[in-house]
Amino acid sequence: MNIVNEKLSLISECNSEDLRIERSRLCCDVEESTMEGSVFKRTQLCGAGFIENDMHGIGLQQCDLHGAGIERCDLTGAALVSCKLDGMTIDGINVQEMMTFYKNNFKKENTTMNKATRKAIIAGNWKMNKTRPEAKALLDELKGMVADVKSVEIVACVPFTNLETALAATEGTNIKIGAENCHFEKSGAFTGEISADMLAEMGVEYVVLGHSERRQYFAETDETVNKRTKAALAAGLKPIVCVGELLWERECNITEEVIARQIKLDFFGIEAEDLKKCVIAYEPVWAIGTGKTATADQAEEVCAFIRATLAKLYGAEVAEAITIQYGGSMNAANAAELVSKTNVDGGLIGGASLKAADFTTIIKAAEVG
Ligand code: PGA
Repeated sequence: MNIVNEKLSLISECNSEDLRIERSRLCCDVEESTMEGSVFKRTQLCGAGFIENDMHGIGLQQCDLHGAGIERCDLTGAALVSCKLDGMTIDGINVQEMMTFYKNNFKKENTTMNKATRKAIIAGNWKMNKTRPEAKALLDELKGMVADVKSVEIVACVPFTNLETALAATEGTNIKIGAENCHFEKSGAFTGEISADMLAEMGVEYVVLGHSERRQYFAETDETVNKRTKAALAAGLKPIVCVGELLWERECNITEEVIARQIKLDFFGIEAEDLKKCVIAYEPVWAIGTGKTATADQAEEVCAFIRATLAKLYGAEVAEAITIQYGGSMNAANAAELVSKTNVDGGLIGGASLKAADFTTIIKAAEVG
């Protein structure tokens, strides 16, 4: 059930599973109801009371929960993303005070409560560019420029022919090497393909999977992306799985449906422990190589939605630990604003990763966060 732009003044003993409330205002208490898997978005919940509800897997995004109270509710797997929480209580405990206590009393590495605890990853996707001497020259230039970077994981995903050169050029540096695809079978009669084991054996760490250019020009589907992701994980690689909507899908207002479908299918059958080894790149197809970047708010909105979807599937703790990148015409000029967003943990960069100076500027922007 979808509720948009409404003022709600009575909810009690309802069975409202998979309820979606957007840009609305809740001026009442919700009691003894089932709200399992429901999503509240940009909704005013200030002062509302939630009492004895099943709120299992509920997602709250960009909501105002100021002064709201939750009592005796099942909140297993619930996710709160970019919400206003001051004065909110859960079973009488002030949530903001509790978060401050945790932040002050536990080491950052031990908690997955916010962006600061996730690994920012800036990955270059070179696509079909650079011969071996050109690859070596670019990496030689880059490694000098980023040698002092510690808080950002730097990855160069390069064509298969450049992997050996790239691995040799970056040995002992803070630059990790990735491939741009891999096949899902271990070996066999698949002319022209490369297996995950072949990459892992070389020392490759990352692999881009499900890039929209693979989906568009090489007929890859969510089913094959899912198989490739499983094969990459089995070989010990870290998959960077790309998802994103077409311009037409955005215009039809189905971005969230498209993204949720891709996330559910691409990660189908993948356990939480394996998911934690994956990176997700949100790449709106209309922004790739077009010079049209999503605004920072658009990127944040979809990255937050991806995290909320993961929270529903895997629980909030796992969702909070996953690095979600933005990709699509990210460059030296717009990177800082994009990576400053709460749910944008880095970028997958095409064109701008082919210039050492521009790529370095993006990396340095991610260091600031
Ligand atoms: P772009 O490519 O930065 O050139 O738009 C991004 C990507 O395809 O990963």
